[in-house]
Amino acid sequence: MLGWGVLSAAAGATAVLLLQWWSRTACRPGRRGRKGYTSIDAARDPEVVGGVIADAYEGTMLATVRHDYCVAMSTSLSETLQELVQETQQLKMPQMLSSPLTVRLLQSLIRAGSATRALEIGTYTGFTAVGMAEAMPQDGLVLCLDDFSDEAPFDLCFIDADKESQIAYVDLLSEGLISAGGCVVVDNTLWYSRVLRPRGRHDACTKAVVDFNQHVLKGPWHVALLPIRDGLTILQPRSTCGDGLQKTRRRSGVATAVVDGLPCDPEELYLEVTM
Ligand SMILES: C[S@@+](CC[C@H](N)C(=O)[O-])C[C@H]1O[C@@H](n2cnc3c(N)ncnc32)[C@H](O)[C@@H]1O
Repeated sequence: MLGWGVLSAAAGATAVLLLQWWSRTACRPGRRGRKGYTSIDAARDPEVVGGVIADAYEGTMLATVRHDYCVAMSTSLSETLQELVQETQQLKMPQMLSSPLTVRLLQSLIRAGSATRALEIGTYTGFTAVGMAEAMPQDGLVLCLDDFSDEAPFDLCFIDADKESQIAYVDLLSEGLISAGGCVVVDNTLWYSRVLRPRGRHDACTKAVVDFNQHVLKGPWHVALLPIRDGLTILQPRSTCGDGLQKTRRRSGVATAVVDGLPCDPEELYLEVTM
């Protein structure tokens, strides 16, 4: 049983509390095995190195250094987010945190599109949710939930939850839940570079990510897969996707969720994490 709450976001829009159940057997982004499996491990993995890229190790090291340089040359995170990162580092799975670049990208998309309503699927301690809220006007909304609601359509949706459900998530979103000028950002679409492994050597999570990457190409989306850290895919609705903008759909069964909108003090951030 896993529950958490993001009660409010600093300086920006409201992030709505979520409390959810999630099977621990699910395919979890950033989850490491007993000994861990990082992008460095992936680069040393003979199935990756032997199958696809000869210089994967050097390539990954370069990618890491380049990523860190990009972070250093991007606007610093707010104090709130820096504190949140520090607090999350004390928890069991700090590797679940997204990259600061992901936060910066989400914030840029929100500002570029003047987004006022965002949906996040997969919140953990609220790093990306609060980051999105910071970029929004005071009356904006970041909804962190696993149960789609009548709040649609959204200008932006960040999907960072279980990989095996991603096709279901985007198929649902394609039914009018994303505004015509909006977008969906999906994390981990390179999945530790395992998507580069030869076919037939994919574990369940890798297969889910590979299937997802191919699935969205055939869907009603403009697709851009960016090699930012573990892969970020940007989906924008094609014109046919704007037809059902007023349509909302209640969904249950993605996960058992209790969503509770809470009054908040925009000056304060409260986090409760129970694992
Ligand atoms: C990688 S973490 C999210 C990290 C967060 N976006 C950030 O950057 O700080 C993935 C989250 O997805 C959640 N999750 C996993 N399976 C889920 C499911 N079926 N429905 C909803 N959330 C799920 C997990 O509980 C976890 O908190």
